[in-house]
Amino acid sequence: MAVVHAEQALAAVAAVAPENLGSARFRADHGVRYAYVAGSMYKAVASEDMVVRMGRAGLLSYFGTGGLRPDRVIAAVRRFERELGEGPYGFNLLAGGDNPRKEEEQVGIFLRHGVRRVEAASFVRPTPAVVRYRLTGVRPARDGAVHVPNRVMAKVSRPEVARSFLEPAPPAMVGDLLARGLLTAEEADLAARVPMADDLVAEADSGGHTDQRPLVILLPDTVRQRDMAAREFPAAAGVRVGAAGGLGTPHAVAAAFVMGADFVLTGSINQCTAQCGTSEAVKDMLQQADVHDMALVPAGDMLETGARAQVLRRGLFYPVRANRLYELYRRHGSLEELDPATAEQLQRRYFRRSFDEVWEETRAYYRQADPDTLARAERDPKHRMLLVFKAYFVQSIRLAMSGSSEHQVDYQINCGPAMGALNALLRGTEREDWRNRHVDELADLLMAGAAQLLSERMRAMAGPDPVPAAPYRRLP
Ligand SMILES: Cc1cc2nc3c(=O)[nH]c(=O)nc-3n(C[C@H](O)[C@H](O)[C@H](O)COP(=O)(O)O)c2cc1C
Repeated sequence: MAVVHAEQALAAVAAVAPENLGSARFRADHGVRYAYVAGSMYKAVASEDMVVRMGRAGLLSYFGTGGLRPDRVIAAVRRFERELGEGPYGFNLLAGGDNPRKEEEQVGIFLRHGVRRVEAASFVRPTPAVVRYRLTGVRPARDGAVHVPNRVMAKVSRPEVARSFLEPAPPAMVGDLLARGLLTAEEADLAARVPMADDLVAEADSGGHTDQRPLVILLPDTVRQRDMAAREFPAAAGVRVGAAGGLGTPHAVAAAFVMGADFVLTGSINQCTAQCGTSEAVKDMLQQADVHDMALVPAGDMLETGARAQVLRRGLFYPVRANRLYELYRRHGSLEELDPATAEQLQRRYFRRSFDEVWEETRAYYRQADPDTLARAERDPKHRMLLVFKAYFVQSIRLAMSGSSEHQVDYQINCGPAMGALNALLRGTEREDWRNRHVDELADLLMAGAAQLLSERMRAMAGPDPVPAAPYRRLP
């Protein structure tokens, strides 16, 4: 047997390069340098500039379409085509919940304008709109496989949702789309061979909407889901599983890859960069944040469901006020039921307007955007209270994004502890100031740092002088 010198063995162990972390197929399919993604953030917080900067660096990111008007989304498509050509870049597709119209409108834009990548989020199960997007344009490939032009990255934090994106589209839904002329016979025929997603993101304790599951549990469990699904449906084996939630340091990224992540996705840390689309005031606050400065609040867009979101807490009244509104909504049947002191406080301090004024504005919005919801609120006083309360959440995002100096305490800043972890790492360096933080350079920092950490750890564990094993001790 050849004698392998310890030094040679160590050199081999040390050869972890950032370009080799994660799935080679992920890098090849998306045409990217790293198995690293910057996730979408609503209202173009994940901005056009962010996507272009990432794309030019050969890295994938998703534009934050949530809450944007169609003309802004279309303008972004044109800009990316002009400046990035084929990519890499994609767009967020948010589930519409009870109101699928918005989702269908988005998919219509994506299909008309040839958008080839979406990051699908907040889905409880595949909907007709996401199924239509996925299956449009599928055709037999020369090698007997199926060519699928539209790529779906689905964010999941629950096993049943993961499962539904590992499987083909529900046959009844495909049949219905075919009957409505939204899929061709060939597309419908091939549907049974196509998993709903190319990539799943196991999203753990993240900024924004979150189920707050620990990544160490969620990621391996999602990988196992994928492997189990592949036993029944072999094409699911090709679905890659990425990690998100809490990734803001090389250590966290290294851990994700060790646990089997095919790629990693960051969110919070990208909000505090020169490229991102929020106000300077928000970035100044984020830059100061520590790992303990976050709080859980009800998610404004899903207030009635009790879904939670993680936000910045430090120096803000928003988290307390958001939780209070949710409690009031749960305990009361209408605005009129609120006791006078509470009603007065909400109008003066939270809304700075009367409920009547808020309702007038809300009504004007829903008349255009969602007449069914408006009709329900006109009939049902509890629903009217819900829509009025939701206006506070919308207003708090607007205040933050505009950088209003008057009402800073009401800023809604979605953010997870990854932000604090990165700040701690950058304190005292030139990147302490967000003006020197750039999305693509953060990717380099995290990926190169993770590769270096892994090299060091593996070298330490490989020798050269193995530490004698501690004698086995029985637990008392
Ligand atoms: C300010 C902010 C806004 C976000 N908005 C969206 C969104 O509109 N759509 C979406 O799919 N994810 C959204 N996310 C989630 C991110 O894309 C990403 O999945 C998440 O931030 C990753 O976890 P991390 O914050 O711990 O890095 C948002 C996150 C933040 C911090």
